[in-house]
Amino acid sequence: MKMDTRVFPDIDALSGAALDELLRIMADAVRERGRFAIALSGGRTPEKMYRLWAERERRSARTPWDKVHLFWGDERYVPKDDPLSNYRMTREALIAHVAIPAANVHRVRGPEDFATPEAAAEAYESELRKFFGSAAPAFDLQLLGLGVEGHTASLFPGSPALEETKRWVMAVEAPANPPRRLTLTPAVLNQARNAFFLVAGEDKREIIHALRAEPESQKSQYPAGRIRPAGAVLWFLDKAAMG
Ligand code: 6PG
Repeated sequence: MKMDTRVFPDIDALSGAALDELLRIMADAVRERGRFAIALSGGRTPEKMYRLWAERERRSARTPWDKVHLFWGDERYVPKDDPLSNYRMTREALIAHVAIPAANVHRVRGPEDFATPEAAAEAYESELRKFFGSAAPAFDLQLLGLGVEGHTASLFPGSPALEETKRWVMAVEAPANPPRRLTLTPAVLNQARNAFFLVAGEDKREIIHALRAEPESQKSQYPAGRIRPAGAVLWFLDKAAMG
């Protein structure tokens, strides 16, 4: 498949460049629509960028936090303070250090609030509907990662959520730790006005090559290749991942 790639020497350079681009998209969104709605991803790669964002804000506060709305593209069905929680990671890296109003942090609620992941998924879909209305959300920016077997968000190979066209959020069983997760479905992920894939490390080289080798016209065998957002998609890679 065709990929619009930006390749950097290492994850620090990758994170800095992705943050610059994020801030540019944010400024445009705030100017044009009065707010910036971003769907965050979990994983080790974006954590660097979140920390960098907090650090830059400490040096010179530029982000209009009252206009920024944080959502998550996927979350693990674990308590909010669990080491595996994507919300916890983002809170420690970014949220705790900046002046974002609590009402603008739209986290995916977990087992403290809902007895089943399915109930948590329904509640998150309602949260999205409250914010976006009835049309499928078009995030100003959707952050995505890439797993070694081609997963993105919590859409793993063979997942029924990959075929979902109606529901916006689904509870899934992933072949990963922890297995119980919630994920946005392609019905939402494919609407994004902008999407970044952030991919670093040598272990990603093989899957990057496999994705690049797939013919454009063919349905991808990898979840990451099946996500084709309406807007601009940029792949931020480090040299190790690009090979
Ligand atoms: C998650 C993710 C997941 C992640 C990839 C890549 O919650 O686990 O959102 O899709 O982005 O697994 O993770 P790394 O950046 O750690 O390689």
